[in-house]
Amino acid sequence: MTSQTILSVDSITKRFGAVVALRDISMTIEAGEITGLVGDNGAGKSTLVKLISGVLRQDGGTLAYDGQPATFTTPAQARASGIETVYQDLSLTGNMTVWANVYLGRELIKGPRFLNILDKAAMIAQTRQMLGRFAMNVPPIEAPVDALSGGQRQLIAIARAAAWGSKLILMDEPTAALGVAETQAVEEVIRGLRESGFSVLVISHNLEQVFRITDRIWVLRRGQVIGQRVTKDTHPDEIVAMITGAAAAMSGNLP
Ligand SMILES: Nc1ncnc2c1ncn2[C@@H]1O[C@H](COP(=O)(O)OP(=O)(O)O)[C@@H](O)[C@H]1O
Ligand SMILES: [Mg+2]
Repeated sequence: MTSQTILSVDSITKRFGAVVALRDISMTIEAGEITGLVGDNGAGKSTLVKLISGVLRQDGGTLAYDGQPATFTTPAQARASGIETVYQDLSLTGNMTVWANVYLGRELIKGPRFLNILDKAAMIAQTRQMLGRFAMNVPPIEAPVDALSGGQRQLIAIARAAAWGSKLILMDEPTAALGVAETQAVEEVIRGLRESGFSVLVISHNLEQVFRITDRIWVLRRGQVIGQRVTKDTHPDEIVAMITGAAAAMSGNLP
């Protein structure tokens, strides 16, 4: 497989007061792949996603996206460049309908802009089409998000991310709150994103899932990059050893 880097992280450091959440880390995300990011609680995974998505700024180091230096200072800038993030807490608005959530902050307007009349019919039609592309069971589009299952909500959050001409989708524990069947559906959708040409970064502490869906795995431990493996060339035991530091201990290379 010849790969092309869509995002590169170069010597990034991020501190929260005295806590060094990320210490001089470098890694890449390859275009068209599903990349897994794993590590114990507190390893720095969510912090890395927040840096890439413009929620946080690094204290040192650089990011490059699509070959260009990336200096996003807000999530809106990252989104405008084609990086979408699906958060653990889903960031959907419960009392709003499915279609209103999909278009939240990017509503379609009809007629002269100054009249600010929402094009509800177009938003409903396009939401239906978008969800149909990714989800086998299209959730009711005019229902409030509160009325849907966790799995349906996650599908909507992913479909919304994919709908915006984005290239890179970041997911922080996308199935952490889901049951087995819902998790399967979301994994299907994540694979579908890759088939549609998206690049995906998935944080997960479900190693079986990581082995089911990723092409490549990066391991963080205590704010440092331990290494990367091509998924088909590694084994869960090796990844667990990298996560826990057992491999370093065996080689006498304690952190
Ligand atoms: N907003 C914050 N303020 C202070 N410390 C933080 C903040 N966010 C993360 N941290 C700390 O940074 C480290 C990495 O956290 P995080 O990126 O959430 O890890 P992970 O997602 O791998 O569990 C932890 O020690 C955590 O307590
Ligand atoms: Mg986290």
